[in-house]
Amino acid sequence: MKQQEIDELRRQLNRHNYLYYVMNAPEITDAEFDAMMHRLEDLEKAHPEYDDPLSPTRRVGSDLLSGGFEQAEHVRPMLSLGNTYSIGEVDKFVTSVHNALPSEDVAIVGEMKYDGTSISLIYEDGRLVRAVTRGDGTRGDVVTANIMTIRSIPLRLQGSGWPRSFEIRGEILLPWAEFDRINREREANEEPLFANPRNAASGTLKLLNPSEVSRRGLDAYFYYVLSNELPFDNHYDNLMAAGSWGFKITPVLRKLHTIEEVDEFITHWDSARKELPVATDGLVFKVNSLRQQLNLGFTAKSPRWAIAYKFPAERALTRLRFVSFEVGRTGIVTPVANLEPVLLSGTVVKRASLHNADIVRTLDIHENDMLYVEKGGEIIPKITGVDTGARSPECKEVQFVTHCPVCGTALIREEGDASWKCPNQYGCAPQIIGRIEHFAARKMMDIEGIGAETARQLYDRGLVTDTADIYTLTRDQLLTLDGFGPRSADRLLEGVEASKSVPFDRVVYALSIPNVGATMSKKIAKAAGDIDTLAAMTDEQLIAIDDVGPAMAQGITEYFADERNRRNIECLRAAGVQMHMPDDITDERSDLLAGQTIVISGTFSRHSRDEYKAMIEMHGGKNSGSISKKTTAVLAGENMGPSKLEKAAALGIPLLSEDDFMQLLENS
Ligand code: IVH
Repeated sequence: MKQQEIDELRRQLNRHNYLYYVMNAPEITDAEFDAMMHRLEDLEKAHPEYDDPLSPTRRVGSDLLSGGFEQAEHVRPMLSLGNTYSIGEVDKFVTSVHNALPSEDVAIVGEMKYDGTSISLIYEDGRLVRAVTRGDGTRGDVVTANIMTIRSIPLRLQGSGWPRSFEIRGEILLPWAEFDRINREREANEEPLFANPRNAASGTLKLLNPSEVSRRGLDAYFYYVLSNELPFDNHYDNLMAAGSWGFKITPVLRKLHTIEEVDEFITHWDSARKELPVATDGLVFKVNSLRQQLNLGFTAKSPRWAIAYKFPAERALTRLRFVSFEVGRTGIVTPVANLEPVLLSGTVVKRASLHNADIVRTLDIHENDMLYVEKGGEIIPKITGVDTGARSPECKEVQFVTHCPVCGTALIREEGDASWKCPNQYGCAPQIIGRIEHFAARKMMDIEGIGAETARQLYDRGLVTDTADIYTLTRDQLLTLDGFGPRSADRLLEGVEASKSVPFDRVVYALSIPNVGATMSKKIAKAAGDIDTLAAMTDEQLIAIDDVGPAMAQGITEYFADERNRRNIECLRAAGVQMHMPDDITDERSDLLAGQTIVISGTFSRHSRDEYKAMIEMHGGKNSGSISKKTTAVLAGENMGPSKLEKAAALGIPLLSEDDFMQLLENS
């Protein structure tokens, strides 16, 4: 009975997934979908005997893929396409195809060229068995677990007529909306931004944690079916058939017969593509008939029956109003071109970074110049040149400032550095405000409500002049800020309170020690153990820490030598901020777990996975990625995957909760 219900729920959920993610036409509400999913999850937990690795519940992504990706050889090599930026070349291609197939009807299929990362999926008996990245064209990474998290990819096919065994190729894409959302999030966390959705998609596909992949919102469009038993003798019908099996195929698919039709198709899509939800970088033209494709054959690198036309990077010419010089948290002064607003790739561009003095000089920018702005594959507009013909002789070269435009201090440039810096760390407003914002950001102290704007207000009103002042803020003070009401004030104060239990390594990151980012602050915090030890370390002692070089060591010692920093740290300590690593992590080593092989699975609240791994090793145990007969225990967090649960149960391996595990160590 239960099995029937499980099967029915899986069938229903697959269908609603398809309606929602492929057809864009849901029939039920999100809440109804979630309720069905929860019911299935409960049933699967209670009945591990009916496990199915392709169950829709697995879409959320299970565990970390320990040890990277396996590699697999492609059944058929993944070639690239010959490409051109010229319509004339496309016309030549059409002519040459006609010439090579004299007196035959030739249909050419025009479709979008999606700008993501290519993928090859293998289906057998209607089930997804493997997903492999392009790699070097011959072998790629097996990324099946990550691909399964993409809701628009069918795990089991629907309809009928699919070959028993086939390959389908397509493009993994991060839709613009998701791309913008992720970059906004990364900006708030001071993580490097993705330059374009293509980098974001390929980066995401290579993440070792499928549940992280699942949160990123990838999509996939398919454009090529390969098999010895294809249902039709032409590309168009095979692709449409794939659509009926549940794949999202390119919605832009047109049979074209003449050069005029091909040219019209190009002109139309060059602008119409801007309305599409995903990034495209061109069009692809393919000979439709598979027999004709076979006759035309391949060169060593690409098929003779297809060509890619690439859209030119979009470029606009606009007038420079002025160059502003902006000071960031670390004091670096960035020149920014402020432009007459101009429309480029669907957005109005008013500003573009000129990065540093060398770039301003290389471009040879003069006041009032007409500048070329481009947005190629990159999302950030770039100044690529000057229309010197439009320059009037009286316009002078743009000079880089010699003094900080905010506080007036003379700028300095260290040897080998491209950028000029304002050295007035403690008296220059944007640097102080930047540090307040950095301190409160999510990856640091995670105090919700202190973003750029609030940090500026807190500083301007004299409420916060250094980060420790955040801990003296009162509700009444917050209520005087623009945009603050009782609820937002309380939420901010709750965030301040909660930040007192943020682990020491993040506190080190939050302090804005020069050049010490997320990874290095972890290493340094672990090596030092507490703030007093860290503050007392010499350059030599710091250099002994993995990856710390002389420049970073000097930055750290100078930071702690400064009275203002030491005072601020004392105030943070007095406020209750963590100034040492938790005892249970720095504790002495033991052999308590000698002979034990422990698998860590699920998500945890008291410590991170890495910390648990370190603890297991510190106490003589071994951490392993997958459950086997050798496993002696599973450290089981929340949401442990059903297949792991089942495997542990089948082998009689005990599950330890976080609390069990910590108690075990404490009792030792
Ligand atoms: S067909 C043998 N069609 O462009 C022909 N490719 O340089 C196989 N791409 O690696 C490719 N959209 O990642 C084809 N509609 C489309 C495409 C497409 C994007 C990518 C694909 C391939 C590259 C070709």
